[in-house]
Amino acid sequence: MRLPGRCTLKYVAASLGRRGVFASRLNVLRRNSWNAAEFMPEAAGFEGVSGRDELQEYSVSNSESFWAAVAHQRLSWIRPFRTVQDCDLSRGRIKWFEGGKLNVSGESSVFDCVFCRELLEMTCRVGNLLRRHGVTKGDCVTIYMPTCPLAVVSMLACARIGAVHNVVFAGFSAEALAERIRDAESSTVITVNQGLRGGKVTELKKTVDTAVQSCPTVRQVFVATRTDNPFGFLQLVNRKSNFVLQEMLKEDVVCEPAAMDSEDILFLLYTSGSTGKPKGLVHTHAGYLLYAALTHKYVFSYQDGDVFGCVADIGWITGHSYTVYGPLVNGGTTVLFESTPVYPDPGRYWDMVERLKINQFYGAPTAIRLLIKYGDQWVKKYDRSTLKTLGSVGEPINTEAWEWYHRVVGDGRCPVVDTWWQTETGGICIAPKPSDPDAAIVPGMAMRPFFGIKPVLVDTEGKVLTSNNTSGALCMAQPWPGMARSIHNNHQRFLETYCQPYPGFFFTGDGAFRSEDGYYQITGRLDDVINVSGHRIGTAEIEDCSLVAESAVIGYSHNIKGQGVYAFVVLKKGVEVQEADLVKQLSNIVSEKIAKYASPDFIQIVKRLPKTRSGKIMRRVLRKVVECDLEGLGDLSTLDDPAAVQEILEGHEKLL
Ligand code: PRX
Repeated sequence: MRLPGRCTLKYVAASLGRRGVFASRLNVLRRNSWNAAEFMPEAAGFEGVSGRDELQEYSVSNSESFWAAVAHQRLSWIRPFRTVQDCDLSRGRIKWFEGGKLNVSGESSVFDCVFCRELLEMTCRVGNLLRRHGVTKGDCVTIYMPTCPLAVVSMLACARIGAVHNVVFAGFSAEALAERIRDAESSTVITVNQGLRGGKVTELKKTVDTAVQSCPTVRQVFVATRTDNPFGFLQLVNRKSNFVLQEMLKEDVVCEPAAMDSEDILFLLYTSGSTGKPKGLVHTHAGYLLYAALTHKYVFSYQDGDVFGCVADIGWITGHSYTVYGPLVNGGTTVLFESTPVYPDPGRYWDMVERLKINQFYGAPTAIRLLIKYGDQWVKKYDRSTLKTLGSVGEPINTEAWEWYHRVVGDGRCPVVDTWWQTETGGICIAPKPSDPDAAIVPGMAMRPFFGIKPVLVDTEGKVLTSNNTSGALCMAQPWPGMARSIHNNHQRFLETYCQPYPGFFFTGDGAFRSEDGYYQITGRLDDVINVSGHRIGTAEIEDCSLVAESAVIGYSHNIKGQGVYAFVVLKKGVEVQEADLVKQLSNIVSEKIAKYASPDFIQIVKRLPKTRSGKIMRRVLRKVVECDLEGLGDLSTLDDPAAVQEILEGHEKLL
């Protein structure tokens, strides 16, 4: 695809030099800037609020008045909302700005710049194409594409006509894709013929062809050409297959935006939980957009005219909130990054910063740790003087990575914001910024709750811990507009996972430490979810893949990926197999069933797993074995067969 001109949506394609250009002024927000004292302009009307901390306090104690003011002033409403919130966390009821109608792509200021017009026209054409092919309000469209302009256009086209988008990370296998399409009951899939990433070709169309065979709800597949490679159409009985780019160009450039209710669904996004089945988190229009835009502006000190460089893939929530919706709703310029940090060389990010004059750079610690190994020269080669803020997301950032990011990438002059949040939270909930201008940032700490966010730490008995210098389960004591509303087709699971563990609170699944000064540091997941290179995966999902009798997967500390995958497997009786072959086979199965990143780094074949007398696998023991922490093995008297541990220890030593 060729995209001419200068842009406000900068596209860094996988093949160097092929930079596409799009425009954006997807503006449901009125433009307002952070005043000199770094307080929100909306705060002007709040009595007695003159500092950052006071505004924070006001936003949680007067939540209705805070969010009403922000939503009134910053969103453009087709029809204003009647109620600010109708929420009851204990019952999983979360509704914001009811009675209001809006459309993210329908704001008239969208038309006020030529580059935005191009994006708008593409959005309208795809919107019309989808409408003409029978996609109506509320229908679900699955987008299986790399981060590229047409993927963003497809998301926005869905928003424009009121369809629900379901972006599936293009690294997921056919089976994982099919599972998500089926669960979402998607009628339509949009993909590209092939993807290009880090110099490698990925056969996305072929993956979709395989996936849709087992997805009876899919009526049609639209394919865009990303490479010159020809492709054939899959013939499915009673189903259509279309060629999106050509068809789109026949469509009208005007597409009436649907007036969406605040609580209409904007998108589903699947993420891993502690049980095998991924869950489709539901996000709705008004609250999500407001929260994504607000956090984008204030956490990163985003100013009009800045170029925002979030390198996350659009298949994850970070790509949704900070590559697409946050920057575009703020009328800003966003960068689409389709490659990897080391292709064609480890200077890729910083070359991009220099060429596109990026002001805010937002990436994952795993990439930073990888780049440290290649040396400072790859960074120093490029002009990074445009950088103002550096962001980190998705996993804990260790002190070494934080300091390198700050000292080398940011030349010691850019604040590093370690942002904590989740697919469930819709946007950043804890981050060092916004803060008073002279407030220090503690390396490796997410630190401060965002406006309207009230974190609490709770002990195992459900008691709220009020003192500082303490650790507990991280919960949110009150709702906020950006939070997920439900799990698609399974509200009961939403209740059980988030609302019932600590009644009255929203449970995040993470543990946290609150320092003497009241700042938060995330200590990691409290459930069986692990984080591999910033990608979330449930250990049960991996265990479900294997063709062995029994398995137990755990995360272990990995110096680049943050966490690696270690699998203990028990073979079926009578299976004779070479250990090396089995390891290869199992890795392939996990890649095929889920994605490459979920493949185990280590597979240890064991005769039996350590279990309690009631048959529960003692994961704590397995973790300690992998950490080589023999003293930490603790009390083994509850084990059914203590000899199992000795066997596992011996096998582990051999594997290393
Ligand atoms: O465990 C936390 C970790 O990533 C989880 C959320 O994953 P996901 O929904 O895929 O969203 C990732 C991008 C927002 C959290 O439950 N996590 C996220 N950010 C941080 C983090 N852990 C430590 N520090 C962070 N800054």
